[in-house]
Amino acid sequence: MTTIVMGDGELGRAVARGLRQRGDDVHLVGRPPGGHHEAATFAEAGLVVEASRGSAVLANARAAVAGGARRFVIATTAWDDDRDEVQATLRRAGAAAVAAPNFSVGVALFARLVDQAAVLFAGIEGFEPYVVEWHRRTKTDRPSGTARMLATRIAAASAGRADAPALEVVSVRAGSSPGMHLVGFDAAGETVELRLTARDRSPYVAGIFAAADWLDRQSRTPGLHPFDPVLDELLARAATVRETPLVVS
Ligand SMILES: NC(=O)c1ccc[n+]([C@@H]2O[C@H](COP(=O)([O-])OP(=O)(O)OC[C@H]3O[C@@H](n4cnc5c(N)ncnc54)[C@H](OP(=O)(O)O)[C@@H]3O)[C@@H](O)[C@H]2O)c1
Repeated sequence: MTTIVMGDGELGRAVARGLRQRGDDVHLVGRPPGGHHEAATFAEAGLVVEASRGSAVLANARAAVAGGARRFVIATTAWDDDRDEVQATLRRAGAAAVAAPNFSVGVALFARLVDQAAVLFAGIEGFEPYVVEWHRRTKTDRPSGTARMLATRIAAASAGRADAPALEVVSVRAGSSPGMHLVGFDAAGETVELRLTARDRSPYVAGIFAAADWLDRQSRTPGLHPFDPVLDELLARAATVRETPLVVS
């Protein structure tokens, strides 16, 4: 079976490189000349990794299920408006997808730290949260999908509070940064910041592979799945390894 990687940009090429290093058969697919992919492109697809543009995700998913693809990892961001249609397309076809704006395990753990911090600081008067994200100049969507995900989680911590200040989310597009996200809580006399800096795209590729393995391990419910259950399985397996007694022969 072949893994079809949709999107021949930075991420798609990094994923394809990693898959080839694992010895997998890979087909890297760029923007189609006529605007839409042929279903036949996906005839041999064991897995489709979506890494193109948000505006292409729905059409790509429709073409892929029409061609017989049933397992997807959707890394592309900025397709929120098409989410319901993508969900329906997958469910109708009995296809399962892991979709996340960020597949880095570090980011997923960072998001859980932000959840906890947001709850702690929401309980103390005077602390105001904010989000800053910085990516390379050529990144088109802003705020980044990850910044929007973090903002949603921070807002959830003060849901129902009439006095909660509007959350500032600031995007910087400059240079070649592969991604920096900073979550701060500022009060009159002090600032607390959680910062996550990506040095390259390898964490995204590793997380995409983890999601693909999760889909492989057992049949999953048709439709979209977040990255959280993949992370939970990774954490559970890490805990099992730690608990395994060391046998000295
Ligand atoms: N979830 C994650 O962990 C994660 C991590 C990094 C990036 N991302 C997201 O992944 C996506 C790709 O990122 P990137 O950095 O690789 O962007 P990129 O360098 O701009 O690459 C996107 C590529 O997709 C091509 N494309 C456009 N329409 C297509 C279609 N219908 N089918 C196949 N390919 C198509 C583009 O061609 P044209 O230039 O001709 O449009 C471009 O070559 C973005 O949405 C980004 O935000 C997600």
